[in-house]
Amino acid sequence: MTLVSLLRRGRGRNLFLPAHGRGAALPEALRQLLRSRAGIWDLPELPTVGGPLEPEGAVADSQADAAAAMGVKRCWFGVNGATGLLQAALLAIGRPGEAVLLPRNVHRSLIQACLLGDLTPVLYDIPFHTDRGQPAPMDASWLQRVLRDLDTPVAAAVLVHPTYQGYARDPEPLIRLLQGRGWPVLVDEAHGSHFAAGVDPLLPSSAVTAGADLVVHSLQKSAAGLAQTGVLWLQGGRVDPAALERSLGWLQTSSPSALLLASCETALAEWGTPRGRRRLQDRLNEARGLKEQLCRQGLPLLDTQDPLRLVLHSGSAGISGVEADAWLLPRGLVAELPEPATLTFCLGLARHRGLAAALHSSWRRLIQAHPGRVPQPAFEPPPLPLVASPLLPIGQAWRAASRCVPLAEAEGGIAAELLCPYPPGIPLLIPGERLDRDRIQWLLRQRRLWGEQLPASVRITDNSGSMTQTPSSRG
Ligand SMILES: Cc1ncc(COP(=O)(O)O)c(C=O)c1O
Repeated sequence: MTLVSLLRRGRGRNLFLPAHGRGAALPEALRQLLRSRAGIWDLPELPTVGGPLEPEGAVADSQADAAAAMGVKRCWFGVNGATGLLQAALLAIGRPGEAVLLPRNVHRSLIQACLLGDLTPVLYDIPFHTDRGQPAPMDASWLQRVLRDLDTPVAAAVLVHPTYQGYARDPEPLIRLLQGRGWPVLVDEAHGSHFAAGVDPLLPSSAVTAGADLVVHSLQKSAAGLAQTGVLWLQGGRVDPAALERSLGWLQTSSPSALLLASCETALAEWGTPRGRRRLQDRLNEARGLKEQLCRQGLPLLDTQDPLRLVLHSGSAGISGVEADAWLLPRGLVAELPEPATLTFCLGLARHRGLAAALHSSWRRLIQAHPGRVPQPAFEPPPLPLVASPLLPIGQAWRAASRCVPLAEAEGGIAAELLCPYPPGIPLLIPGERLDRDRIQWLLRQRRLWGEQLPASVRITDNSGSMTQTPSSRG
């Protein structure tokens, strides 16, 4: 089947991203644009249109309006996802040779940015939910412990808020702690654009309101934007807008799609209209009601801080999220994020009629199809020091002559590549890290949990054996 014919089909329950639910929740202005003469909207950066880095034109006006509505200094629309904006933001706050402080649950795009910008990632471990094998949000006392252990000067710090599954804590104390060290703070809020809408007081606060210097929103993950849309917000005086524009210009396509830019504009404008705000509040209320009902009916749904993410703890019935997904997918229930213990459904911004009954009956049939299962045992956190940097500079390891070896035989080797199940896109190993025995044993056990998502072999640098230094880490 051709891609075009596949895209025209519309069966199944869409519980995945983009959050507009295959068009159902796209803002009215964008729907009208898409209904007009085919392709009329596909314009280059004409003077009247402009682009994210142009001082004049409709895009500049929209960006200025969006920044004013958000109460920040500047913003830039992005058409290469949260990925492109995160990378440009990190390159703007760290100069080649400097180190940046990143949490272990950082998205792979920021590790790739370290490689591009010759930055040293100083990675700090974060709390871990042992019942489901997922990272948990940290509090200020955890971060204080990290800062006490840090023995390398760093130029900037990154936070992830919320996680893919919707776990979050108030980011403000963390941002204040990091800024108190004089560092600009970049927050990957890809999954939390709607926190910044100021619609629902029960949602966690946004890193924008909490005063982060730079915040990236993915407008397709947590607002009504098309795939690849995002926005980068800048506030305060720690980051030079000119540095940001330089790195955006480096990484951004020279022909940004006017359709995607219009989608950024309309997705953000939606939060400013009474209709858009009411719609968001309605979806949040429905999602809360749905979860309550399903929990009463016995579905093991985990607590998260984002009502729009339903995290099914299938592992509590002895069924991995990967198995549950493989069973539900051909039966028309299409989830977003299968993991070893859970299956995360993204409700997004579209209405889902009859979803409670569909989920309840799918869960019952899933259990019946997997008889005799017992709850999964507790998950072990990764065997990592609290703070650690790769043994070899990340770019050097990635570019080094390397070879592929079975994971079980990689002890002592230095990784030349990322090991990273996708989704969620959180690396389990990054280039330059030493594979010691504990790490290998843990990765082998992860492979049993993630299945095909993790390869059986790993690329290590050819000179691995001759690297005898101890890692520049403590913990
Ligand atoms: C936390 C987080 N940040 C950034 C990204 C990258 O977003 P995008 O796919 O829009 O580039 C993802 C993607 O899954 C993510 O989960």
